[in-house]
Amino acid sequence: MKASSGFPSSSFPEPARVRAMFGDIAGRYDLMNTVMTAGMHHRWRRLGVEAAALTTGGSALDVCSGTGDFAFALARAAGPLGTVTAVDFSRRMLAEARRKGGRAGLNVDFRWGDATSLEFDDGSFDSCTVGFGVRNIPDLHAVFSEMRRVVRPGGRVVCLEITRPTRTPFRQFYGVWFDRVVPAVGRMVSRNDAAYGYLPASVRRFPPADALAAVMKDAGIADVTYKLLAGSIIALHWGSVR
Ligand SMILES: C[S@@+](CC[C@H](N)C(=O)[O-])C[C@H]1O[C@@H](n2cnc3c(N)ncnc32)[C@H](O)[C@@H]1O
Repeated sequence: MKASSGFPSSSFPEPARVRAMFGDIAGRYDLMNTVMTAGMHHRWRRLGVEAAALTTGGSALDVCSGTGDFAFALARAAGPLGTVTAVDFSRRMLAEARRKGGRAGLNVDFRWGDATSLEFDDGSFDSCTVGFGVRNIPDLHAVFSEMRRVVRPGGRVVCLEITRPTRTPFRQFYGVWFDRVVPAVGRMVSRNDAAYGYLPASVRRFPPADALAAVMKDAGIADVTYKLLAGSIIALHWGSVR
């Protein structure tokens, strides 16, 4: 892992464990999201789609797509003439996503893949997004380099992620929310201790918004900007490809 990622990769569980954990909670992931964010996660993804600047008929790739909500929001923006592809390395998440896509009549091509090693040619998409995915990946430089590589010049790379507020009173709120409320509610709804003990740990080791912007720039993404949402516990970063 590049030193610029800011924390040691040794603190990460093996990718196989991360994959198994997401597989275990795939069927309850959406409910968890809704409970823990009071339904606000849909709005954050819509802002992510705006940051992707995707127009009707455009093409987008969503990585770490999970149950597909970011990809579906992109598909709505791209319209019937657009193309949206989504990649995840958990087959159970992909199965949930395909089921939801079928029910909603939204055309997204869900594929198995690793975000740090994408199968697509350079410049294949108008934009590439990731939502609540990169904090699970030890090599941030690799994932952002790949996201940049598959976007055409002039296109956008977007990252939506939980972040650590640096200012009071948000810092105190964050401590209570992620260290106490999230694991307790997570355990209750997901019935999976490991997954929701993992969540605060994954957020704690993740770089704050400024440092994440630096990692994205280091991966070759230009004009990186970010916006803090929800009392500074969510960061929306975006940049362009030259
Ligand atoms: C917290 S979920 C986020 C799902 C979705 N993007 C959202 O906005 O709700 C994280 C997802 O990232 C996937 N993931 C983690 N590491 C990955 C990797 N290296 N390549 C592809 N998918 C990965 C997991 O399987 C999981 O489905």
